[in-house]
Amino acid sequence: MSQENMQNEESGRKESTDKSSNSRANEMVIETEVDSEGVRRADTRPIITARDVKVWYDSDQALRGIDMEIPENRVTAMIGPSGCGKSTFLRCINRMNDLIDAARVKGELTLRGKNVYDDDVDPVALRRRVGMVFQKPNPFPKSIYDNVTYGLNIQNKDGDYDEIVEKSLKRAALWDEVKDRLDESGLELSGGQQQRLCIARAIAPDPEILLMDEPASALDPVATSKVEDLIAELAEDYTVVIVTHNMQQAARISDKTAVFLTGGELVEFDDTQKIFENPEHQRVEDYITGKFG
Ligand SMILES: Nc1ncnc2c1ncn2[C@@H]1O[C@H](COP(=O)(O)OP(=O)(O)O)[C@@H](O)[C@H]1O
Ligand SMILES: [Mg+2]
Repeated sequence: MSQENMQNEESGRKESTDKSSNSRANEMVIETEVDSEGVRRADTRPIITARDVKVWYDSDQALRGIDMEIPENRVTAMIGPSGCGKSTFLRCINRMNDLIDAARVKGELTLRGKNVYDDDVDPVALRRRVGMVFQKPNPFPKSIYDNVTYGLNIQNKDGDYDEIVEKSLKRAALWDEVKDRLDESGLELSGGQQQRLCIARAIAPDPEILLMDEPASALDPVATSKVEDLIAELAEDYTVVIVTHNMQQAARISDKTAVFLTGGELVEFDDTQKIFENPEHQRVEDYITGKFG
C-alpha cells in the first residue's frame, strides 16, 4: 500500500473535532499580524519547533540536525534539490515516517510546545490536526461528497455533514464548480479540480496545519495558479508548510523559506524576501540563481 493510502486509511479513523484550539490560536496571532507600517509580518509565534531533528533510512542519513521554527498562520516553503530531505522533513511533522519501516527519527519536534514523538501522542489524532496534501491528486473512487467527508468522525451528526462539505469545498475554491454534482465520482474531475478536492478533504476535519508536498507540480499553469491563490487564502486560518521545487512559486506564496541542500542539511531559513534577495550563504545564492540543483 502506498504511503498516501496508508495515511488516508489512518485519517479515516478520527475522533471528535476540537475547534477551540484554532480560535484561541487566532486570537494570539492578531496582535502580531502586521507591523507599525501595516506590512504583514513574516513571523508570528511558532506553532512547530524542530530541534536537532535527524532521520535515517536504515543506515543512510537523510536529515542532519534540523532546527526550525515554523510560524503560525503563515506559509513556510521548503525548497532545495531533489533528494535533499524536504519530503522527509514534512513527514516528520505528522509522523508519516512512522509508516516507513526503514525510517528512524531522532530529535524533538514540538507542536504547540508538545513533542509529537512523546509516547502519549496518538499519531492518528496528530494527523487530524496536521492535514496533508500530496503531489499527485489522490481522490478516492467515491463521490465528491464522500471524498470530503472521508476524514470526519462517523459519530458526527448527519445534519452537520452538508454544511462541512459546502464550507470545505468553498474554502478549497471548488464549490461553484461542483455544487450540482456532489454525487459524481471525484475521479471525474480534472486534475486541478481533483487537487482542490484533496485540499477540501484535508481541511474538512478542521486541522491546524496543512502540509503540502509539491501540491501543484502535477498541474497545468492555470490550475497551478488557482492552487497558489488558494494557499494564500488558506494561510489566513491555517499554518501551511509547502514543499516546492518551483522557486518562483516559493517566492510568490510563502512568508518564510527553508533552503535544504544535498545531504539533508538545512542551510538557511529566513523571511522569503531575504532568502531571495539577500541570502547569507553563497550556496543558497548559487542554488536560487540556478547555478546548480
Ligand atoms: N521511503 C524511503 N526509504 C528509503 N530511503 C528514502 C525513502 N524516502 C526517501 N528516502 C531517501 O532519503 C533522501 C531524502 O529524500 P526525500 O525526503 O524524498 O527528498 P526530497 O523530498 O527533497 O526530494 C533521499 O536520499 C531518498 O532517496
Ligand atoms: Mg519530495
